[in-house]
Amino acid sequence: MTYQSEEYELTFPPDFMWGAATTAYQIEGSPHADGKGESIWDRFCTLPGAIYNGDTGDVACDHYRRWPEDVALMRELGLSAYRFSVSWPRVFPEGGGQINPAGLDFYDRLTDASLEAGITPYLTIYHWDLPQALQDRGGWANRDTAQIFASYADALARRLSDRIKFWITHNEPAVVAFHGNLMGDHAPGIKDMRIAYQVAHNLLLSHGLAVDALRSIMPDLKIGISLNLHPFDPAGDSNDDVEAAHTLDGVQNRWFLDPLFYGRYPTDIVLKLGSYAPTVHDGDMEVISTPVEFLGVNYYNRSVARSDPSNPPFYASIVSPKGAEYTEMGWEVTPDSLRKLLIRLHRDYNAPAYYITENGAAFTDVLQADGTVDDPRRVAYLQEHLQAASRAVAAGVPLKGYFVWSLLDNFEWAWGYSKRFGIVYTDYATQRRIPKSSALWYSQLIESQRSGAGIR
Ligand code: FCB
Repeated sequence: MTYQSEEYELTFPPDFMWGAATTAYQIEGSPHADGKGESIWDRFCTLPGAIYNGDTGDVACDHYRRWPEDVALMRELGLSAYRFSVSWPRVFPEGGGQINPAGLDFYDRLTDASLEAGITPYLTIYHWDLPQALQDRGGWANRDTAQIFASYADALARRLSDRIKFWITHNEPAVVAFHGNLMGDHAPGIKDMRIAYQVAHNLLLSHGLAVDALRSIMPDLKIGISLNLHPFDPAGDSNDDVEAAHTLDGVQNRWFLDPLFYGRYPTDIVLKLGSYAPTVHDGDMEVISTPVEFLGVNYYNRSVARSDPSNPPFYASIVSPKGAEYTEMGWEVTPDSLRKLLIRLHRDYNAPAYYITENGAAFTDVLQADGTVDDPRRVAYLQEHLQAASRAVAAGVPLKGYFVWSLLDNFEWAWGYSKRFGIVYTDYATQRRIPKSSALWYSQLIESQRSGAGIR
């Protein structure tokens, strides 16, 4: 099938990485295989009402058993890179202590198969599935977890860093802190502002400790962290709305970027947090700001902020503009904000390199009687966001690669299986994978970029 698109121009460097991303809990299934321990997501999914429709990750895409087929699929699509995460409780069922070699073997096989398929692996060490045994001791709110995480990173590097050169310590610490520990709609389901900010700090600390651990095993690694970055625009042009947008940018973006790149928390947010601010030990900020080789940007949408005197401690709320286009997640489609974000990141933080480690959209996809899935809105979304990324490259941003979220429809956390983000459709009844028109379009795009033919 050929996807016809209107004309547009994309210019990326010849060695640009064209990838897709997944995570362990969202695709693997097999929660008890080969000695795996319980994760906080295994536990959270058993709580009544926690997940839409009572769904769980017990089967997901059955990738733990079907991985050879999935690697073959990526090879057919012509991907140059694959971003996946390791399930910590597969490797350390109790979080620390005794390693489970059988769990690590799985990622070893996946790494070799990816490399044989000509696909460069990008490994995410932590994508939200903390061993439950560690949560039982306070989870990320307990400072010891940061050190245990560094030992886990060390074990991965000892086994895999001869073949995996690109490492992402954490995925979206803001989501772990705020969804997991403030709003409570993600595992472990805690709702406590003081804990949430301590969790955010301990995650950042663990990132810095892991960077050191990885580098001491293998000095030539490219190490980064993936943040979910949302630009905030003010709802109106009043000073109060402009201030609200600046504050929410501080909470969501600067709270993570400033410590990583400057070794300090943004003062305006520290002041607003008051007693909710985290406990920081001497030397923590130096550890957190250990230099990295790249920043991973997960981008889905901008947000719009308005002043809200009834909402302490930040006195700001998010609004949804009327008449805009939204995805199935209710996220506004705002591609140009990606261009602006990349340019701003490079101006304000000057990372050595950037990757878009996630970008994509959920739409209602339907498997047709003829066995195809046509998803023109996803194609348009990806096309527009790549156009924005290409413009950022033209403006001088050293963007090295793009990972579509996601390779496969999968377990979308609290939304269960109700949201489909894949460029490949997962027929959960049969576990058949059916490339959507977006996968075919993406494959053609990669091919034409590789051959230098340009893309229309
Ligand atoms: C991101 C997560 C990823 C996926 C997408 C839709 O926040 O990193 O696992 O759920 O959102």
